Amino acid sequence: MTISGCLTKCLKPCRWAFRRIARIPIVQVLWRTAFDRRLLRRTAFIRRKPTRENAVAGVVLAYHVIEKGLTMPNRRLNFGHAAVFNLANACERFLRDFGEAPQVSHGIAVLRAYAAIHDHEARMADPDFWKTFEATLARLPDVPPAVEPQFTREAFYAANQAPFADFARSRHTVRHYAGPLSIERIRAAAHLAFETAPSACNRQHVRLRCICDATLREKILGIQGGSRGFGHLADKVLIVSADLDDTLDIKEHNDVYVEGGIFLMNLCYALHYHKIAHCVLVWFCNPANDAALRALISAIKETEAVVALLACGEAAETFSVAASPRRPFDEVYAEI
Ligand SMILES: Cc1cc2nc3c(=O)[nH]c(=O)nc-3n(C[C@H](O)[C@H](O)[C@H](O)COP(=O)(O)O)c2cc1C
Repeated sequence: MTISGCLTKCLKPCRWAFRRIARIPIVQVLWRTAFDRRLLRRTAFIRRKPTRENAVAGVVLAYHVIEKGLTMPNRRLNFGHAAVFNLANACERFLRDFGEAPQVSHGIAVLRAYAAIHDHEARMADPDFWKTFEATLARLPDVPPAVEPQFTREAFYAANQAPFADFARSRHTVRHYAGPLSIERIRAAAHLAFETAPSACNRQHVRLRCICDATLREKILGIQGGSRGFGHLADKVLIVSADLDDTLDIKEHNDVYVEGGIFLMNLCYALHYHKIAHCVLVWFCNPANDAALRALISAIKETEAVVALLACGEAAETFSVAASPRRPFDEVYAEI
């Protein structure tokens, strides 16, 4: 017998044992999550080596904070100095390391819009601060100030029953709410979203809870943390979750987020159709936040993964939305 034949014969029982072990659920969990971790280890934030892609994300995040601030109800002057400083720095670093990019131009445009709402008197409140980012503004002098679109409620919903392309283009995140919102309209939008969202094998993993109680809402938004300046105006908060018990194999462990994401977008369209102003709120699934939310809402099953929250309300009579310009199409689309 050859050496390789001998080895094959000896290893046969081992292969059989390996296969049996690999089928043990907990081993599958360890193997699959190790695969997830390997993917995570490649990211710029873990390797601490900023890539251009990661730097773009940093600039967008930094300008979005200010862009949101510019559209806030009851906006005050000189808001968010630390965030403005952060944006100016992110733009400076990007220009130094990678050169120009549409996202940096928009970052500068947002800084310029911020500067434009502050006259000489407003700047005198903190002259040192104002000096810090004027140098950044001077780097791209031809970029005009960003414009955050303004709407009346009527104009905003003029296309809510239009053909899809116009309807989809008319939906924007709204953070300025006024007055109560009837539960019947929420229910109608939720019904439409559930009726029409696809799901893997139609297993419908998603659950939706509408928080009507004001005290509970306040506590939940406090945990979420991303609705400062507007969350208190929301008349309802929705919680989108998906049940891992509707998955049948470890292979599907990320499906809850795919299912939740598909449903979430469908729900946004359904809310827009029913003229309900809304803002998706990210759910950072860290253990402390997760436990705090579950302590407040015992109906969330142990096997459910919380996917996102939504702040909802009746749109104010007039309001602004963040411009949120999209990446150039060629950056995100390829034919291979
Ligand atoms: C997953 C997700 C999480 C979000 N989290 C927040 C949030 O915590 N706070 C907030 O004000 N907006 C949040 N948003 C709203 C985005 O900022 C907004 O959708 C984006 O700028 C695009 O604007 P548009 O909805 O008007 O097209 C979130 C959106 C998504 C999709």
